[in-house]
Amino acid sequence: MGAAATVEAVNTLGVQYLGRKGVITGFLKNIASLPKEERPAAGKKANRVKGALEQAIEKARKRIETAMADSVDRLDVSLPGSPSLAGALHPVTQISQQICSIFNSLGFDIAEGPEVETDYYNFEALNFPKDHPARDMQDTFFVSEDVVLRTHTSPMQIRIMEKTQPPVRVVVPGKVFRCDSDLTHTPMFHQVEGLLVDRGISFGDLKGILTAFVHQMFDDQTSLRFRPSFFPFTEPSAEVDILCVMCRGKGCRVCSHTGWIEILGSGMVHPALYENVGYDPDLYSGFAFGMGVERVAMLKFGIDDIRKFFENDIRFLNQF
Ligand code: DAH
Repeated sequence: MGAAATVEAVNTLGVQYLGRKGVITGFLKNIASLPKEERPAAGKKANRVKGALEQAIEKARKRIETAMADSVDRLDVSLPGSPSLAGALHPVTQISQQICSIFNSLGFDIAEGPEVETDYYNFEALNFPKDHPARDMQDTFFVSEDVVLRTHTSPMQIRIMEKTQPPVRVVVPGKVFRCDSDLTHTPMFHQVEGLLVDRGISFGDLKGILTAFVHQMFDDQTSLRFRPSFFPFTEPSAEVDILCVMCRGKGCRVCSHTGWIEILGSGMVHPALYENVGYDPDLYSGFAFGMGVERVAMLKFGIDDIRKFFENDIRFLNQF
């Protein structure tokens, strides 16, 4: 009994001696066939053996159970540990920070503003006429008649100019919202807005700053193209294309075979904005720009579907 290593082995021994067909049980049955005078002594002896066996079985069972419990509790310090997953910045956050840090090194401050905005800051003060298509229900998430989820980071131009006198040099990263969803659009995305206002600022300064930015963000072989455009809050306005980073201008799927990729909107701040914030338009001039962070991130990382950024697949996110 003392040698049994498992509870099953003990049970087998128990059945062998004390079970219905066991050795002891058989012996007890045979007592009836002994001569009458021998029966009491034999019965006594058999019962003593049976009791001793029962105790031995119980003892062996306890010994094995205690040993098993001990081995479960014991700590094996030689086992490899379970590693904890370290967090990391989302690729969109990384690119947004990289954009801001380039402008920061060019002398721009960094500011942030509200994602729920009034109609006044999102449209009115930015010189959007009342019937401008950007106010259409299809683009704008309305919270109430006069409150929207900001459709761009441009309202911060007004908020910043209201609070500070020139010179103003600032970039504003943040989330923006539009009722739109496909391969290149998500209802929430990120922009970085830029604003520089001072005395004697010209379109040449706009070109110089944006060229310096593109050369740092991509490389100094990435040339820029300024295309005339329209925004209510800038005049003149330009859209900025960069030479396709994939094909270097030869034409490919990413640039729709044009060799160029649009990365931002820009222009000279419209004098109407200066009037709305109380700046003297004869004294000050400046430029503004706004770019989509996901778009820059897609180009930097070679990603073709914007929605991948927001599926939160850890295998995708871990690559950056
Ligand atoms: N706010 C514009 C948009 O979301 C982008 C933009 C264009 C911002 C020109 C600017 C600018 O500051 O000057 O489409």
